[in-house]
Amino acid sequence: MEKIRKAYVKTYGCKQNFADSEKVTGLLLTLGYIPVKTPEEADLIIFNTCAVRENAEQRVFGNVGALKKLKEDKPELVIILCGCMTQQPHMAEYFKTKFPFLDAIIGTDILASLPSIIGAEPVSYEDVKPLREGKYSANVPIMNGCDNFCTYCVVPLVRGREVSREPASIISEVKGLIEEGRRDILLLGQNVNSYGKDTGTGFKELLQELDNLDGEFIISYMTSHPKDCKKELIDFIAESRNISRHLHLPVQSGSSRILKLMNRGYSREQYIELAEYARNKIPEISLTTDILVGFPGENYEDFKETLDLIEKIGFDSAYTFIYSKRKGTAAADFADPVPAEEKSAWFRELLDVQGRISERSYEKFIGKTLRVLCLGEGRTSPELLTGKSRQGIIVDFAGGDELLGKFVDIKINKALPWALKGEII
Ligand code: 5AD
Ligand code: SF4
Repeated sequence: MEKIRKAYVKTYGCKQNFADSEKVTGLLLTLGYIPVKTPEEADLIIFNTCAVRENAEQRVFGNVGALKKLKEDKPELVIILCGCMTQQPHMAEYFKTKFPFLDAIIGTDILASLPSIIGAEPVSYEDVKPLREGKYSANVPIMNGCDNFCTYCVVPLVRGREVSREPASIISEVKGLIEEGRRDILLLGQNVNSYGKDTGTGFKELLQELDNLDGEFIISYMTSHPKDCKKELIDFIAESRNISRHLHLPVQSGSSRILKLMNRGYSREQYIELAEYARNKIPEISLTTDILVGFPGENYEDFKETLDLIEKIGFDSAYTFIYSKRKGTAAADFADPVPAEEKSAWFRELLDVQGRISERSYEKFIGKTLRVLCLGEGRTSPELLTGKSRQGIIVDFAGGDELLGKFVDIKINKALPWALKGEII
């Protein structure tokens, strides 16, 4: 009898990377591998890496280094490194010399390279059914790559130019997922607003088609780009039945001078106008953002403008990052005179201000009734159930397991900084 082969897939970074790993695991399943939860059990180890910041890379170095011993104990073990980090030629070289026990280093187009390494037939992206976690949610990549070249960002260098999937293929995938009972669909792309520049069907048209599928479900999407997010799109979402009322709109900086150096393609004023437009059109919207502190050349005055902007908009939450220099990006050559300790102090100030804003931002939902998709065990207590509102907010409430995968109306009576609690009505 043939030995059962076991595969361990470890993923770093963004949801796009996690979606790629779900495809890889789906492929491995069809090839007779079973997924395992620790590298020690595995016959095949795949690390899907992230290059967006240095600390993500440091984690990969540490974890890859720890595999050396496993390989010594079990020489037939196959270890493969893939993902954004390995797309950088200097990094691929470094891995080869520093970690000679690696069996292959293959970049982001994993499905194209993996089969031949493990002795399988070539496959196409569209043909592989991903192995998805959970029963009611699904990630659906709608495009890959990025054309924007923000001066700090390595993504266009590692993931290449934007390529959109065919709308018909996305629509049939989502339709199938809904028929399987999945109700929480997340569309993924580096800049979803430029979806379809290459295929002719724009993002709004895609959302319209998806919104019209039969049933009740939530379609969310990320990431939006303020320069390409159009008011017509917001108008449509306001009237849609099934499109999420969560808008993740990374601002990066509140200073027009820094936004220009970042090559973001919008000013502070344009961003504020767009965010306010969205708030007016969709009063129940949840707005979240990304903020980058310590971009080369940023001074305290610029940083103050960021603080001022986040106070003005009142984001429900913000992902905050200290600038990390990335080889090959334009900003890597910019003068960067502010010392790391000073950037850290700014960063702490930012966390403080945003913390205060997030602390209270969900209070606006108290007394309101939200439509919630019930997803599993409570996040605040195991006796409760948890769900996701149309704003993408976690809502805990009391109820029975028969509600899993269904929508319920919840009257909100308590707001935490990261979740809401309420009762079924
Ligand atoms: N340094 C720090 N943060 C970065 N991001 C992208 N590139 C860098 C970098 N070089 C952040 C941005 C982006 C998020 C996904 O990661 O805020 O929106
Ligand atoms: Fe990491 Fe960015 Fe690549 Fe995602 S796209 S895996 S965040 S480098």
